[in-house]
Amino acid sequence: MSTRDGTEVAAILQDRLNALTDLHLTLKHVHWNVVGPHFIAVHEMLDPQVDAVRAMTDETAERIATLGVSPIGTPGAVVAARTWDDYSLGRAGAIEHLGALEVVYSGVIEGHRKAIDATEDPDPVTQDMLIEQSRQLELFHWFVRAHLESAGGELSTEGESHLQPAAKKAGEGAKSPRRSR
Ligand SMILES: [Fe+2]
Repeated sequence: MSTRDGTEVAAILQDRLNALTDLHLTLKHVHWNVVGPHFIAVHEMLDPQVDAVRAMTDETAERIATLGVSPIGTPGAVVAARTWDDYSLGRAGAIEHLGALEVVYSGVIEGHRKAIDATEDPDPVTQDMLIEQSRQLELFHWFVRAHLESAGGELSTEGESHLQPAAKKAGEGAKSPRRSR
C-alpha cells in the first residue's frame, strides 16, 4: 500500500473511530437512564453492545496505528470532529430510548457502509474489518428495531431521522391500541 493510500484509509478509520466512541458512550448513557416497564430488558440488552462496540474502537484505533498514523481518542477531538448531534434524551422510557437509538444505529451503519465502499480499492484488509463490524452493528440495530416493529413488520418510527421525534413516535406507537393487540 502506498503512503498516500495509508493516510487516506487512516482518515476514513478516524471518522469511524469517532462514531464508534460516540456510540459506546451513548449506549452506556441509555443503560443508565432507561426507566419504565421494560427497564431490565433494555438495561441488560445494552451492556453486551457497549462491550462489543468498545472492542471495535480498539481494533479500529490499532488499525490506524498499524497504518502509521496516530489514532486520536480524546473526548474533545471526538466532539470537535463529529458531524452528528449529541444524544439528546436523558431519563426516559425504554421505548423512547429505543426509538432514538434506532436513529443512532442507522447513522453509524450508513457511515460504515460508505467506509466499506471507500476502502475496497486501497485496503481490502481494512475493508474486511469494517465488514465484520457492520455485521455486528446491523445485528444490534435489529435488536433495537424489533422492539419498534409490529407483527406486520411495520416500524413505528419509519422515515424519522431525528432523535427527539423518533423517540416521541416510538412512544406513541407503543401506546396505540392497533399496535398493542
Ligand atoms: Fe451497569
